[in-house]
Amino acid sequence: YVLVIDVPEGKPEVFIEKDMYEIGYTLRGNCTSPPSYPAINLTWFLNEKKVNESFMMRLADPDNPEDRRNPLTTVAGLELEIDGATFQSGKARIRCVADLFNIYQAQEDVVLEEERPRPRPSSVLGTRDSSGSTWLRATFLMNTAVVLSLIIR
Ligand SMILES: *[C@@H]1O[C@H](CO)[C@@H](O)[C@H](O)[C@H]1NC(C)=O
Ligand SMILES: *[C@@H]1O[C@H](CO)[C@@H](O)[C@H](O)[C@H]1NC(C)=O
Ligand SMILES: *[C@@H]1O[C@H](CO)[C@@H](O)[C@H](O)[C@H]1NC(C)=O
Repeated sequence: YVLVIDVPEGKPEVFIEKDMYEIGYTLRGNCTSPPSYPAINLTWFLNEKKVNESFMMRLADPDNPEDRRNPLTTVAGLELEIDGATFQSGKARIRCVADLFNIYQAQEDVVLEEERPRPRPSSVLGTRDSSGSTWLRATFLMNTAVVLSLIIR
C-alpha cells in the first residue's frame, strides 16, 4: 500500500471578521489551508492555547470533484466569546497551524486588539477642570452655535 502525498505549497490563510474586539462580543473567523492530498489538519490557538474549531470543511478541487486523489482544501471555522481572559495587555494572539503528518507544517498568526468601550459623551464634556476639557467645551459650544445658526436659517 502506497500513499501518494501531495505536499502543500504555501501556508494557511486566516480571515477574522474584525481586527478589534470588545469584551462580550463573539469573534468569527476561518482558516483555509493550501490544497493537499490527503487533507491537512488545521488547529487553532489563542495565546498559545489550543481552541476547538467551530466547524471543519473539506473542499475538493471543483474542476474534478470525482477524483479521490484530488488535492483538498480544508477550512476550519473559529467562533470565540471574547471575555476578560482573551486579551493579554490588550492583545489576543490567534494562530492557525496546518500540518500534514510530520512532513509539512506551516502557520499564520494574527494579532487582535482589545477595543475599549468609548467614554460616554457626558464624561467628555464632564466636570474635569483641565485646559483639555475647556477646549472640548469650547468646541462643543461652537458646534452648538453652528447647529443653532443652521436651525435659525
Ligand atoms: C471566511 O471568512 C471570510 C471573511 O469573514 C468570509 O468572507 C468567507 O466567506 C469565510 N469562508 C468560509 C468558508 O467560511
Ligand atoms: C474541544 O473538543 C474536545 C473533543 O471533542 C472536548 O473534549 C473539549 O471539551 C472541547 N473543548 C472546548 C473548550 O469546547
Ligand atoms: C490529523 O490528526 C489526527 C489526530 O491527531 C491524526 O491521526 C492524523 O494522522 C492527522 N492527519 C494528517 C494528515 O496530519
